Amino acid sequence: MENIMNSPAYKAAREKAQELLEKLTLTEKIGQLSQFGNSIYSSEEKKYEDHFREGKVGSFLTLRGAERTNKIQSNLLSIQRTPIPAIFADDVIHGYRTTFPTPIAQSCSWDPELTTRCDAAAAKEAYAGGLKWTFGPMVDIARDPRWGRIMEGFGEDTYLCSQFAAAAVKGFQGEGDAPGKDHLLACMKHYAAYGACVGGRDYNTADVSLETLHEVYLPPFKAGIDAGAATVMSAFNDVNGVPATANHYLLSDVLRSQFGFKGFVVSDAGAVGELIAHGFAADPKDAVLKAFGAGVDMLMAGDMFNDNIPSLLEEGKIAMEDIDRSVLSILTLKYLLGLFDEPYVDPDGENVFFCAEHLALAREAGAQCAVLLENNGILPLKNVKNIALTGPLTHPCGQAHLLGGWCGIADPSRTVTIEDGLRAAIPDANIDVIPGATFVHMSKEEIDAIAVRAAGSDVIIAVVGEENGMAGEAGSKADLNLCGSQEELVLALCATGKPVICLVSAGRPLVLSKFKDKVAALLNIWQPGTEAGNSVADLLTGRVDPSGHLTTSFPYTVGQVPIYYNHPSTGRPATGRWRFESKYMDCPIAPLYPFGYGMSYTSFEYSDISLSSDVMPADGELKVSLTVTNTGNYDGAAVVQLYVRDLVASRVRPVKELKGFKKLFLAKGASSRVELSLPAASLAFVNSDLEWVVEPGQFMLWVSEDSTDERYGFDFEVI
Ligand code: GLC
Repeated sequence: MENIMNSPAYKAAREKAQELLEKLTLTEKIGQLSQFGNSIYSSEEKKYEDHFREGKVGSFLTLRGAERTNKIQSNLLSIQRTPIPAIFADDVIHGYRTTFPTPIAQSCSWDPELTTRCDAAAAKEAYAGGLKWTFGPMVDIARDPRWGRIMEGFGEDTYLCSQFAAAAVKGFQGEGDAPGKDHLLACMKHYAAYGACVGGRDYNTADVSLETLHEVYLPPFKAGIDAGAATVMSAFNDVNGVPATANHYLLSDVLRSQFGFKGFVVSDAGAVGELIAHGFAADPKDAVLKAFGAGVDMLMAGDMFNDNIPSLLEEGKIAMEDIDRSVLSILTLKYLLGLFDEPYVDPDGENVFFCAEHLALAREAGAQCAVLLENNGILPLKNVKNIALTGPLTHPCGQAHLLGGWCGIADPSRTVTIEDGLRAAIPDANIDVIPGATFVHMSKEEIDAIAVRAAGSDVIIAVVGEENGMAGEAGSKADLNLCGSQEELVLALCATGKPVICLVSAGRPLVLSKFKDKVAALLNIWQPGTEAGNSVADLLTGRVDPSGHLTTSFPYTVGQVPIYYNHPSTGRPATGRWRFESKYMDCPIAPLYPFGYGMSYTSFEYSDISLSSDVMPADGELKVSLTVTNTGNYDGAAVVQLYVRDLVASRVRPVKELKGFKKLFLAKGASSRVELSLPAASLAFVNSDLEWVVEPGQFMLWVSEDSTDERYGFDFEVI
């Protein structure tokens, strides 16, 4: 499929890059491999002017704004011997100024096109801010919510994450033969298996079999690269003892030779120097040799390449052709971006920030990503006059927390609070906003005071969860229960006897076991972004029917993690028949809420389910057709999920794997015929020789509303 990395425009850009490459000095070549942050300006001896003159700077990160980037670019181009525009990059993960739901939230929409739209809007704003490259999408599979970066990715399932990875690349880069105006180079990160960190502790070692590496963690990167992703970021962690940032097998054998990746690899921040702390490099020069030698093209960030590659070249440890190959890949993309023709950005473009179209999209996305976990019928709200609103996220600080992490460029003051959203949606209601709830310890007196006041209303809405800094990078947690005294607060509110609608806003799955059966409704709103209050009000009032479905398992307790739906059976599956089975003595083996789960205000029925055949050749395809009917009283969106099980194979297979899904909107009473394709190729797995194989044999498939729904199962055979 044509994309920016194999288009005629790419080839033309590469030819121009080759011509320029031949004119560069060694210093200028290595400068293109060097990225700098704000620190280059903090050194008092005006180091940047010398660096610019010598051509030692090829890229900047986290320098923001049209005016600032234009000034830096102009300064650079006016000083350099060979004028080569810098490429400006930043972490545009779920928005630039307008903030969209976090990626984990977006994945719960089960609508990759929504992510394409959000990332296209983010790219437009970021481009206006002087950027041409984002460090996203993050496509790390995460099976352990103790790891705070689960917030930045698309959940636990490889198939779904791969769909979202490609969708995000399409959004950031556009779909033409070059990233046009308002688009950015994408960056698949963090390569690889960063989410497999032992103990859910960020930066920790990832010890995975090669089969699991290829089958679970690498396919989303391949999906992004097949969609044309221009860059990849190497991860901090080691993979089976070899740091990802110096892992020749990953960066060269797999990424370039197997996946055919032609873009460039940037190290994560400081990851090259950290090879020393890993105990993998003896000193900075050794670290540069090992990282560059493995396949890292650009250093984030600083002078380690500028300082060490010349002597490594001199000593014959690095070849000029390797340097040329890296420089060529970077220059090609600078030409492809049009940077040489238009190195500056129009400052007036910044009026796209928070434009009505982007705010409307943020509001729509916030409502599509929330997952309704419990509802005794209290939702959608009907004719409620007196509402008590409390919880730490109703505090003004909630405006930042409702945005989630990686929002360094956003404007929290623009966040629509839950209160604002409710007052706008139900102006006649009396909303009593009760202060005092915090994320830290609250005394019994403080909790009781809130509960007593809340009891004076008809309905209580409690907004609990996490601060935005509690997830994201270095946001590792050993305890997934609500922090501080939030659990006690929810229980005290429930004890008033008034119905409690509990809204959970966090960057990760939290343990909600203590009160899930006591609240009247439980709505996981994630971190919805700039339009948070309006999105939530749309859901609570029924203007929008909740249609989110979980893409990450919510544990019953932290003791269950890592927990994920697509696990092997084991020889002793938990049946409850006897003691000697694979289960816990003190806790269920099932999560509190499973992958794929999500409630709606309406209900859907599947009928007339048929398979095109119950036998297919190893290169064939099955079609699964069904009628979906909205049998409830509200318009809503169904998420039809297709799961498969390979009953017998040369390696044990998961009890279930998602192989297809479709989200469809249905007015109440309406029906629609849905067809899901199941190519035999999608049944492939990695055998012990590390080959992708489709083995003949018996399979099962289900069309389901979540990963535990086995009402509609069918046998089929691959021959
Ligand atoms: C951070 C993160 C990475 C981010 C980079 C630049 O350490 O690991 O995801 O893109 O640095 O901010």
